[in-house]
Amino acid sequence: MKKILIATGGGDCPGLNAVIRGIVKSAALEGGWQVFGCIESFNGILKDEIEIVELTEERVSGLHVKGGTIIKTTNKGGPFQFPVRQADGSWIVEDRSQLMKKRLEELGIEAVINIGGDGSQAISLGLSKIGINVVGVPKTIDNDLSSTDFTFGFQTAVQIATECFDKIVTTAESHNRVFIMEVMGRDAGWIALHTAIAGGAEVCIIPEIPYDPHKIVEKIETRYQHGMGFCNIVIAEGAKALDGKVTGTDPTAIGDRHIKLGGVGEKLKHELLDLGIEHDVRVTTLGHLQRGGTPIAFDRILATEFGVKAFELVRDGKYGNLVTYRQPNISYVPIEEALKEPHLVNPDKDFLIHTARRIGMSLGD
Ligand code: F6P
Repeated sequence: MKKILIATGGGDCPGLNAVIRGIVKSAALEGGWQVFGCIESFNGILKDEIEIVELTEERVSGLHVKGGTIIKTTNKGGPFQFPVRQADGSWIVEDRSQLMKKRLEELGIEAVINIGGDGSQAISLGLSKIGINVVGVPKTIDNDLSSTDFTFGFQTAVQIATECFDKIVTTAESHNRVFIMEVMGRDAGWIALHTAIAGGAEVCIIPEIPYDPHKIVEKIETRYQHGMGFCNIVIAEGAKALDGKVTGTDPTAIGDRHIKLGGVGEKLKHELLDLGIEHDVRVTTLGHLQRGGTPIAFDRILATEFGVKAFELVRDGKYGNLVTYRQPNISYVPIEEALKEPHLVNPDKDFLIHTARRIGMSLGD
């Protein structure tokens, strides 16, 4: 029997379990393959005590509907920067990639399928470079990976955010309020932009377009002057004012790869009040609600297709590749190519931006 090890890395995302199920089912149907899950991303094979579990067809049955990941995840550390606690309580990071390679060989594992976003795929590339057979599957609610039209999880996040936005509109309208809804989106404003258009926001602020609070005040006041006594703003957590600074807290845990974003909605509220806005301004931050719960049908389908394709790449020995979706086909590209550039909103070219402006939405510039 040939063996595959699956890992899920980075933030959880609706559809991870559907990918796992797609891999396990297609491997079982092919025959001659055994699939294992590495617990908590690669920690399962890097820790002193190995933690991997066999993923049988019975185990994955019905999983396409379930959110999160049954094999757990982490966005800290990894094989090249594994956090190790010292006797004095302090932490260091250790390169355990060669240990991982040795353990994979000892366990007789033919290939690794790494399901994750840009950070995880950078790890896939590193593993590939030291001779481990890796296939990547692109995951992130932010939809910021290039070479694929969509990552799975994104559409679910947009659906959740839009449903929340619809609820905010009714309360904004009833109270004549200005509402600011902060959504996820570290570098890319895709969730914010899609939600703003789907929900009909008056203002949408994304990381790719630095915002000027004066412009937002102008838009709000125009609304109120024209008798529309409320205004709804969607802002991505990675949004920056003209000073180019993001809002959040510095990483605290050892191995943390990113600043923890959050709070830009509150920041904007104070900027608006400082500019003399007299309306009641309220802020709602959606946070991890956008990543929780069951994937919508689109993501279940895409994730299942990704799982099937990932298995086929392993079966055919096409290692070092990332599964991709290029409408209407599922294909693949070298991981290296996929990592060259992030997939950001292009303020000059994307039709979504054009659409937003043509329907009178302010983008804060
Ligand atoms: O990358 C996906 C994402 O949800 C980002 O939008 C967000 O900044 C980040 O993960 C949050 O990560 P965590 O759950 O570790 O705070």
